[in-house]
Amino acid sequence: MKATVVLLPGDGVGPEVVAAAVRVLERVGDVFGHAFHADAHPIGGAALRAQPDQGPLHEPTLAAARAADAVLLGAVGDPAFDAEPRHRRPEAALLRLRRELGVFANLRPARAWPGLDAAGPLKPETLSGTDLIVVRELTGGLYYGEPRGIEPDGESAVNTLRYSREEIRRVARVAFDLARTRRRRVVSVDKANVLEVSQLWRTVVSEVALDYPDVSLAHEYVDAAAMKLALVPASFDVVLTENLFGDILSDEAGAVCGSLGLLPSASLGEGPGLFEPVHGSAPDLAGRNLANPIGAIASAAMLLGDGLGLRRESDAVNAAIERVLAGGLRTMDIASAEDTWVGTTELAAAIAEAITPP
Ligand code: IPM
Ligand code: MN
Repeated sequence: MKATVVLLPGDGVGPEVVAAAVRVLERVGDVFGHAFHADAHPIGGAALRAQPDQGPLHEPTLAAARAADAVLLGAVGDPAFDAEPRHRRPEAALLRLRRELGVFANLRPARAWPGLDAAGPLKPETLSGTDLIVVRELTGGLYYGEPRGIEPDGESAVNTLRYSREEIRRVARVAFDLARTRRRRVVSVDKANVLEVSQLWRTVVSEVALDYPDVSLAHEYVDAAAMKLALVPASFDVVLTENLFGDILSDEAGAVCGSLGLLPSASLGEGPGLFEPVHGSAPDLAGRNLANPIGAIASAAMLLGDGLGLRRESDAVNAAIERVLAGGLRTMDIASAEDTWVGTTELAAAIAEAITPP
């Protein structure tokens, strides 16, 4: 197949992990006979530095993303722009891109990788068997609700939490459909003991569940869910939740599984999907060949499978990651005290190499 992938390396470690993922995509192209055309654009702080008057998301970048078959993003975030108003912060680019692409369902799988059961804070027997996926609503909620802003006198500020039935319904369907390909269990996370929005969330999710009698549904309050994620992570299959709760719980899931650097994501809607590691720009690691490329490489695997419909290719990448981890190769974040570790490029090269023809 021929496909155009728009690359948005972004800030901090973004360019390094995107380069790692591209290396893997190139190898997949060679092994399986596909031609992936990759087209890179600046985003976030990188875009602000290149053309300060054009903001963090340039119009040609947005147009290219819209026209692509899939978009692969590294990370956005740059402390140099911390004092800028919201629309001129690097993060604004990502939020606008998600909204413009209409990618309302953000899939964030987290699992106990073989050989990494001692990399995280949990006892190996607690982590063992963990294989969950957070389905995070991505284009609504507090991130986008109006009105918002700091009052002119600077003495108070407001954000708005709003969800429509349709916004809840469509992401719930994604979660239930996904559950059918897995262990058929959905936990919907909300704060329905306090928030009206969560009460509507619960009602609509329960309505959607009627169409999926083969999938079990449980509701959890977000505080209890956060606790269970640390105590019994293996009890979760599909975790369905709104934008901010999903942001928080997915970082927790990453830490629980060994490192946030391992987590990939796919953001799906009507048009091209957006694929990005869950981790941020990690300015302290940038340019040092220290970042874990697995989050980005596993995002490339999701791009192949969920974005381009290339399931065998996606499986081959994940199998290569497993093989390399099982062989003991580690980046700094997942190495234990007695392990030696390798850099971003070395781990990426080993994974690319481990991709074998079908
Ligand atoms: C994420 C990030 C973003 C978010 C930031 C960079 C805007 O934390 O993808 O989880 O909050 O969604
Ligand atoms: Mn986050």
